[in-house]
Parts: sequence; structure tokens; C-alpha cells
Amino acid sequence: MRRVQSDRHKAGEISAALLAHYDRHARALPWRIPPKANRRAEPYHVWLSEIMLQQTTVAAVIPYFEKFMSRWPDVAALAAADPAEVMAAWAGLGYYARTRNLIACAKFVANELGGAFPQEERELLKLPGVGPYTSAAISAIAFGKRTVVVDANIERVVARLFQIDTPLPLGKKEIHAATDSITPPARAGDFAQAMMDLGASLCSVKGPECSSCPISAYCGAFQNGNAAGYPVKAPKKAKPVRRGTAYWIERDGHVLLVRREDTQMLGGMRALPDDGWAARQDGDALQPFTGNWRILDAAVQHSFTHFSLLLQIAVTEGPKQAEFGEYWPINSLDKAGLPTLFLKAATAAMSENRPEKRV
Ligand code: ADE
Repeated sequence: MRRVQSDRHKAGEISAALLAHYDRHARALPWRIPPKANRRAEPYHVWLSEIMLQQTTVAAVIPYFEKFMSRWPDVAALAAADPAEVMAAWAGLGYYARTRNLIACAKFVANELGGAFPQEERELLKLPGVGPYTSAAISAIAFGKRTVVVDANIERVVARLFQIDTPLPLGKKEIHAATDSITPPARAGDFAQAMMDLGASLCSVKGPECSSCPISAYCGAFQNGNAAGYPVKAPKKAKPVRRGTAYWIERDGHVLLVRREDTQMLGGMRALPDDGWAARQDGDALQPFTGNWRILDAAVQHSFTHFSLLLQIAVTEGPKQAEFGEYWPINSLDKAGLPTLFLKAATAAMSENRPEKRV
């Protein structure tokens, strides 16, 4: 590994300049304590926000975080919640495996640890859904420990600062070592959040604004006029396209919904019935019962991390007594907690199937 470490003197200057900038410009976020408030954020708030922020933008997370805070204000409340309600409250945020881990983690902390989150990275790592990034972030932000926090924003800032050109993901180790070299002994949580804010604002992907950056004097990429050229990324593989069918089964103003198996993608969430599509296979397109089925013109396209899904929608009238699932009133479908994929399918079905009842 190439040595990409800052000398100690420079490292101190970089972190001091960044922290001074953060003291004046920190974003006000609902899980964050302002830098000069002289207290730390609640571990429960930090944990919940960091889980929600995995692969998800700050803007998308804010309303979910606020909803969770008002419904489940502490870890004991979340641990005691009906899991189905937690899943429904998460609907729309994506990456649904997070919810099952969230519930398991809340129960573990509330019931086995007396409600107190561990402070050290290696203990935090044992919690369901908490990986290396999240354990480092919680330990630094909630407990002030000096950990090395690297998320995608920080990765970009550090790759530019040190001109690390090993393509990602291979370059991650170098970036981690370089971040380590500039992380200060005190205020590691503020330092991490200052780096995140810089990456989300002045050091953005497409339009770095180096003239306003508090650490441009130390930035190799800026000195060479090529900030936008970092980080270097290995070419992405094209995503495979899977095909599937969702079934819109309607009866007297109600539509048939099922709860997905825990082992499936979007496991545990309410959904329209479908034909068993998965990351590695198309659906079988077999209708759940014989009837007068009609395929809608509009199909739904949805991107998952490793594949895209093209979901066609088949519509029919349902039997009076459903043999599986539950009939849900169409005019309160927004309360069912459908993941975005099925919300798109439902919207397409409602507008094409019943133009007079558009949502
Ligand atoms: N992204 C992940 N964690 C964050 C935090 N604590 N503040 C801002 N953006 C973040």
C-alpha cells in the first residue's frame, strides 16, 4: 500500500481548519447536537440515524427520523413496539433488511444491556445491523472515542486531499489509513461529521467549490486542478434485468395484500402478491388462481443494488373470500406501509385500471 499519510504537523492543521469551519457551518440535523453545545448526542439518536443513513440521503432520512422519534422516543419504546408497525413506518426508506436488524438490535440493547449502547467499536460491532462504519460513527459521535470514520462523502474528501488514485473499492484501505492520519485525538465525532458535511456541500461529487474550502491549501487534487477527477472508481458492471409480475386483485373497493416471507427480498413487508421474482431469477408469471386476468400496458421499473426489476401488473377481480392475504381498503392504501416498488405498481394499477380513482 502506498504511504498516503499526512505528517503530524499538517494533520493537526487540517483537522483544526476543518473543525473551525464546522463550528461555524455545521448543518442543523435532528439527530445532531450543535458543535459548541458541550454535550453529546443521545446514543439512541445516533444509532437510529446512522442505520437510516446507510445508503440513504440525509434529505430522505430526516422525516423518517422525526417520525420514529415521535413514535418511539427511546430504545425501550422501540424494543417494545409491534414489529409490523415498525416495518410499516420504515416503508419507502428501502433496504428493508435494516428494519429486522433494527428491531433485533433495539431488543438486545433494551433487554440484555439495560438500555445502554456499548461505547467501544468492537462491542458495537456485535449488535445486529452494525458494521465497521456504523460502529466507528456511533463510538465517535455518541461517546467521543477516537475512531476512524469513513463513509462515501469522507472517502471522496480524503481521496482528493491525498490524491489517492487506486480505484475504489480497492483504494478503501489507503483511504482509511489516510483518514486515520488526519483524525484528531479529541472531537473525533465532530471531525467525522465535519468531513461528512464538507463532502455533502463544498466537496460534492460533481461541482467541488474549492475556492471556499477550508482545507484546499492542503488538497493535492486542488493544487493539481483536478478535484473532480477523484475518487477514481472501477467501472461498474451492468446490472442484470429481472422480470416479474405483481397481481392487483380487487374486490369492492379493496385490494388483496400479502405479507412477504422473511427470507424474501423486502421480507416482512406488506406487498401485492407476486410471482416469486428474486435477485437471481425471473418470476414464473403463473397467476395465483384461474380467472379473467388482464396485463396492464404500464410496467414498473425499479432499481435494487444488484439488479433492476421490470414488473408487469396483472389485474383481476378477486373472490369474495380470499384464500390468502387480506383485503385492504384501496382508499387507505397509503397506510399499508408498502415498499416503494409496490407503491409504484399500485399507483400504475389504480391509474390505468380505474382512471376515475387516481391517487
Ligand atoms: N451521513 C451518515 N452519518 C451522518 C451524520 N452523522 N451527519 C451527516 N451525514 C451523515
